[in-house]
Amino acid sequence: MKVLLKTDKIQEIKSDIIVKTYLKTNLSEKISSFNDLLSGKIEKVINLKDFSGEEKQFFLTYSDGLLKTEKVLLFGLGELDEFTLNSFRKSSAQIIKTIQKLKIEKICIDLTEYLEICSLKNIDRFDAFTAIIEGIILSQYKYKKYLNPKPGEVELKEVFLLLSKDDYNIKFAQILKSTNIICESVIKARDYSNAPGCEINPISFSEEVKKLSKSIGVKTTILKKKDIEAKKMGGLLSVSAGSNIPPRFVIMEYNIDNLDYDTIVLVGKGITFDSGGISLKPSQNMGEMKMDMSGAAVVATTIEAAAKLKLPLRIIGLMPLAENMPGGSALKPGDIIRISNGKTVEVDNTDAEGRLILADALYYATKYKPKLIIDLATLTGACVVALGHFAAGIMGTDKINIEKLKTSGERTYERVWELPLFDEYAELIKSDVADLKNVGGRWAGAITAAMFLKNFVEEYPWIHIDIAGTSILEKETDYEPKGGSGYGVRLLLDFLRNWNNKL
Ligand code: BES
Ligand code: MG
Ligand code: ZN
Repeated sequence: MKVLLKTDKIQEIKSDIIVKTYLKTNLSEKISSFNDLLSGKIEKVINLKDFSGEEKQFFLTYSDGLLKTEKVLLFGLGELDEFTLNSFRKSSAQIIKTIQKLKIEKICIDLTEYLEICSLKNIDRFDAFTAIIEGIILSQYKYKKYLNPKPGEVELKEVFLLLSKDDYNIKFAQILKSTNIICESVIKARDYSNAPGCEINPISFSEEVKKLSKSIGVKTTILKKKDIEAKKMGGLLSVSAGSNIPPRFVIMEYNIDNLDYDTIVLVGKGITFDSGGISLKPSQNMGEMKMDMSGAAVVATTIEAAAKLKLPLRIIGLMPLAENMPGGSALKPGDIIRISNGKTVEVDNTDAEGRLILADALYYATKYKPKLIIDLATLTGACVVALGHFAAGIMGTDKINIEKLKTSGERTYERVWELPLFDEYAELIKSDVADLKNVGGRWAGAITAAMFLKNFVEEYPWIHIDIAGTSILEKETDYEPKGGSGYGVRLLLDFLRNWNNKL
């Protein structure tokens, strides 16, 4: 599907359908010009109480030859008071989902009312425009790879966004381009997450990332088991020990030779399937754990978009990849392992595997002497208990950049919520027989996991984002599917694009 900008007069547009959006607030005062064009038809629809501008409400009518497009859809935006930046995203998604049911290929959405809302509510019109495009593109997504096509399915081909010549600004065209790039990466992240474990394993996923890197000119290195052994990455090696498939460690390096740019390392948890290992998970919902590599998927696709957008940063992506299985040579509870920085870990529960592979990756990140390390991981069920599916847990040592990520989270509606890393929590992961223990008992599970990770970043500024709840959705929203949401790509790109701006 293509999204395009138009500045023609509404009467001149040739499409399958024109969408006019209206707030409920002061509806009758807003309709005049379009009502005149349609010789009083809109007024009639309102008077007969067929349309009041209620949120998600729609009414399909015809222009009877008064426009070059025959079908007209009135679409309700609800009350002005309740309208926020995310309402642009939600409502444009709702429009697309409504139209899809009508089996239409080309649509045109008039943005007049949307721009009016920006002025009334003091919302940046470029942020609103970005959100509208995101809603349109992201709501279309469905993981279809293994579905046989249904006969008679009609796909939406073109969406025109209609602006008046007076409102047009070159920045709208630039935003259309960059938002397309970003949404393409979100969709790729969703596809990777949703792919089953029989397709995506450490070997195949590393090859996929390599292919992706080639297409965007980013240098990528894949460390195989021998290399991982040479680097003494005991976390990654022990987690993968119970699987027939060996581990991989993928390194993406964007702008690696440009030492003038600030260096940021992104680390993504890449467990391609998490059975729990010997501490086997219950079978209910275990299938969801094919998405336990969502952190790695977000890192790879964020760098893809960053490279296409030519961001002036040096960005390193690190993806430790393993399958957590209970094979005969699997890691066992009670085992003591050694991470690449020399620290030893008593393994109490083999299902707390994410932190073990991240430990090696975070330590590797410090070699780049970065300005910031950010890791993303579907790390704990405890984070889902705390925040549900509406916010990711954020923790770390870089207060200023945590605040910046909160701002990006509000703007993209990929929200983060900070949890504390008080010293006392460190007590919970002390071991009698090793430097650390990989689980901290019943309480504050999302925090003790982060406290564990803190041991491997040395003095470098570091932020951990627990995306367990936000990456794996139990049900769809207006613009996110059930399953892999691609959460984090838009958040990180907003943050990276604003890197040089003050808080
Ligand atoms: N991948 C899981 C965490 C998870 C749970 C992600 C639910 C998404 C949805 C992780 O590896 C795990 O199993 N964590 C354990 C840690 C525990 C053993 C300390 C958990 O959360 O139960
Ligand atoms: Mg686990
Ligand atoms: Zn896991």
